Amino acid sequence: MLPASSTTDKPLNPFQRPRRLRRTTTLRRMVRETTLSVDDLIYPMFVMEGEGQKVEIASMPGCYRYSLDLLLKEIAEVSQLGINAIALFPVIPENKKDDTGTQSYNPDGLIQQTVKAIKQAIPEIVVITDVALDPFTTHGHDGLVDEKGTILNDLTVEVLVKMALSQAAAGTDFVAPSDMMDGRVGAIRQALNAEGYINVGILAYSAKYASAYYGPFRDALDSAPKFGDKKTYQMDAANAREALKEIEQDIAEGADIVMVKPALAYLDIICQVKEATNLPVAAYNVSGEYAMIKAAAQMGWIDEKQVILESLTSMKRAGADLILTYFAKEVALMLL
Ligand code: PBG
Repeated sequence: MLPASSTTDKPLNPFQRPRRLRRTTTLRRMVRETTLSVDDLIYPMFVMEGEGQKVEIASMPGCYRYSLDLLLKEIAEVSQLGINAIALFPVIPENKKDDTGTQSYNPDGLIQQTVKAIKQAIPEIVVITDVALDPFTTHGHDGLVDEKGTILNDLTVEVLVKMALSQAAAGTDFVAPSDMMDGRVGAIRQALNAEGYINVGILAYSAKYASAYYGPFRDALDSAPKFGDKKTYQMDAANAREALKEIEQDIAEGADIVMVKPALAYLDIICQVKEATNLPVAAYNVSGEYAMIKAAAQMGWIDEKQVILESLTSMKRAGADLILTYFAKEVALMLL
């Protein structure tokens, strides 16, 4: 080894030495450009029927389907940790699914009851409810399907509007259309306004790609499409300009927050969307991204904590203001 601070006589560049600013932890903290805060995190959670139920999702270790009683306890805990918002997804039993997803707008349905209970028990937590038909349909698509297997746009939007109104009536703070039907943001905004829900916001899944990264989530809800795929409504992974078109339309239709989904394979899209709008930009760190990190960590192949922080920081660096992530609780604990 060389003696401490050995150097050559002629430094390569006498003027700029970027390593000066990386010398110590304190210096690195001073010049850090991006920080991750618990305020940025939205925790997606799964609710199921019944009592005393907490069932781990096989492909998402550390994530559970909770019955309402245990969900309320868990939400109280995550709220204590400083998490401001949750995104709710319902696990609908097979015998309550049908072709047209009628349970999605049942005023006493699982989601509607859950929202009411949360708003009573923990009113300060921001509740975001998903608006899409896939958890409720026997075929697993996000829309109504005709006999040829075509996903029908405008008739689906009518159902989505009913679903959003029933969630608003239950007391949700934000509805989050995740289906990618054309015109649904505008139709939902108009209906909410007409019914007096002017303060219910819309978190629009604006640039949502037809992604293989949603696999574990579909396991969680048992909602994988029974035929075909979602490529006629969700976006093609190869497209970026189309994302900007979708964002522009959703903003014109009344979105309050726009979202890019998935996150890690779409950091360029997050970056472009951030440039294109002054609305808050959300990124969805989806189930497959979660599962990959968990699996590699279980094999002992990566430093889980560091990989989680590095991944979420990259989303913020790309421009995300908010991150929906199944790591929210773990990260809140890390940031304490
Ligand atoms: C429903 C919906 C999906 C996700 C969120 N809302 C699945 C899909 O579109 O097939 C995926 C979330 C995740 O993978 O974490 N439309």
